Amino acid sequence: MNKRMILRHTKGGIFIHWFNAACWFILLFTGLGLIQNPQLQPLGQWYPNALRAVFGGGGLLIIHLAVAVTWLLVWLVFIIANWSSHVVPFLAQVFTLKPGRDMEWMIKKNLQMTLGYKAMAFFMKPLGLGAKIPDQEYYNAGQKVAAQVMLLGALVLAVTGAIMLRGKYFMTAPLADIAWVQWAITIHYIAAGVTFGILLVHIFMAAIAKEERPAFWSMFSGEVPEEYARHHHKLWYDEVAIKTSDQ
Ligand code: HEM
Repeated sequence: MNKRMILRHTKGGIFIHWFNAACWFILLFTGLGLIQNPQLQPLGQWYPNALRAVFGGGGLLIIHLAVAVTWLLVWLVFIIANWSSHVVPFLAQVFTLKPGRDMEWMIKKNLQMTLGYKAMAFFMKPLGLGAKIPDQEYYNAGQKVAAQVMLLGALVLAVTGAIMLRGKYFMTAPLADIAWVQWAITIHYIAAGVTFGILLVHIFMAAIAKEERPAFWSMFSGEVPEEYARHHHKLWYDEVAIKTSDQ
């Protein structure tokens, strides 16, 4: 059967997504190796010991810093070059929530995915809600909330990372004496944990959940089948359909 395809991601969007993902994984795995305190080490002490044996403590920190600075610089160029074509529309989409509709979507979608469609309909009845899951825009409510947390997490990681960098290389007082560097370390650690939690859900939904498989392939090809767009992102699909019928 000949499936009609719809453009979902530009080449620039695909590039920055995978570049970002690669940087985050390197930062996460080198960052975990830099945690000296065994009580805060989620993987156990064998992990930092093994990494340090391969790269040395200093080498590990240099990889972490080099990837973080490259990540920031590439993002800066991308943001400036794609401000009106990509960045503004993305932020507008991600930060536009309709609380009633989106809460209903969150509750129904989670019940449908965990208990099934029939059970979801059953639990909705006493609340006076039908079984229909509200139509969604370019991103669904879950994707929007995940993107908001990732954006905030990225900002916090970048700022606290810069404070730690300054504390380590550009200040003379011993690190342990500088309260705000200590705070930056703590907040950096918490932000990494929170964003990692969100990432687990993002990766599960994007790469493992079967019904989102077309979205996964679209992160390589840029396109999704029309049927997927109509079913998962009806409000966006309707906009695209109106635009194409006008041309
Ligand atoms: C193996 C890792 C990852 C996989 C398989 C993956 C997969 C995907 C897929 C399939 C989409 C498109 C969803 C759609 O079209 O509706 C997407 C979008 C997105 N991902 Fe990921 N992702 C990964 C890692 C990451 C990481 C590390 C981040 C951020 C820290 C991230 C942030 C985002 C954001 C903000 C979007 C929306 C932007 C867009 O649609 O261009 N992803 N991801």
